[in-house]
Amino acid sequence: MTGQDPKQIIALLNEDIKGEHGAIVQYLRHAYAMEEGEMACEIEAIAREEMRHLDWLAETVVELGGEPALERGKMTIGGAGIAEWMERNVGLEQDAIDLYETHIEAIDDPKIKRLLRRIASDELAHRHDFEHFVEKSKKEAMEPIAPLEAPAGKPTELSEMLNWGIRHEYTVILQYLLHSFLTPHQEVSEQMEDQAINEMQHLGWLAEELTETGGVPDMEETGIDRSKDTADMLRADIEVERIVTEEYTRQIEQIDDPGLKRMITRIRDHEIYHDELFTDLLDELSK
Ligand SMILES: [Fe+2]
Ligand SMILES: [Fe+2]
Ligand SMILES: [Fe+2]
Repeated sequence: MTGQDPKQIIALLNEDIKGEHGAIVQYLRHAYAMEEGEMACEIEAIAREEMRHLDWLAETVVELGGEPALERGKMTIGGAGIAEWMERNVGLEQDAIDLYETHIEAIDDPKIKRLLRRIASDELAHRHDFEHFVEKSKKEAMEPIAPLEAPAGKPTELSEMLNWGIRHEYTVILQYLLHSFLTPHQEVSEQMEDQAINEMQHLGWLAEELTETGGVPDMEETGIDRSKDTADMLRADIEVERIVTEEYTRQIEQIDDPGLKRMITRIRDHEIYHDELFTDLLDELSK
């Protein structure tokens, strides 16, 4: 093998991870603000592919002895209407393709080169998809169901409530994925990844509910636990689950709308399950 410094490769892969992260959030924001339908579903499917890329890249970073970046890369989220959003997505995919090509050149390791080529071929397919969506949204004169930017003025109580949950869910997705990448404990790692996927569902439910009322999901993290020790990770995860269980329970008592009440109750019950699951894992660790 060549003597390429792993730190150099880690830095390049972390740049790619940030790009994937930005793309995921950009595409989800678009999909939430569109009518539920074929195109929104396809965009969500593209976001899921970017999540797999992020997962592969992060695993590679950990194998090289690094820590996956959690910051989000550039987003080009706005624009006058759906056709313009899709044009920006074409641009984001092209930027990703260009960056992957540079990194494929810069990295010597044949396995990592192969992975990046594999990902870049997905990005090429995505670029074609978005080019098609530009045409389709023009032809069908598609209109968003919600704005991409929060309207001026004081947010409604409902949007403040849902956005509290959205920020929480977004934060724990990142936290649980990071823990899943960093723990050497296989069962904990698998459970963390599983629960991160469950939190993604929560994020989607809350964001869709919010955009239906014209609100704008505030997808910002509020502080991620970066423990290195598995027991410390689990303690932090249990703590955050208890805080959110309390908050959702308080929300449930305040909500009148029966559908929304049921949804938050379902999410809250999942959080109780997460708390119990993490508590069991922590107990097993200390045996
Ligand atoms: Fe892509
Ligand atoms: Fe959740
Ligand atoms: Fe949870």
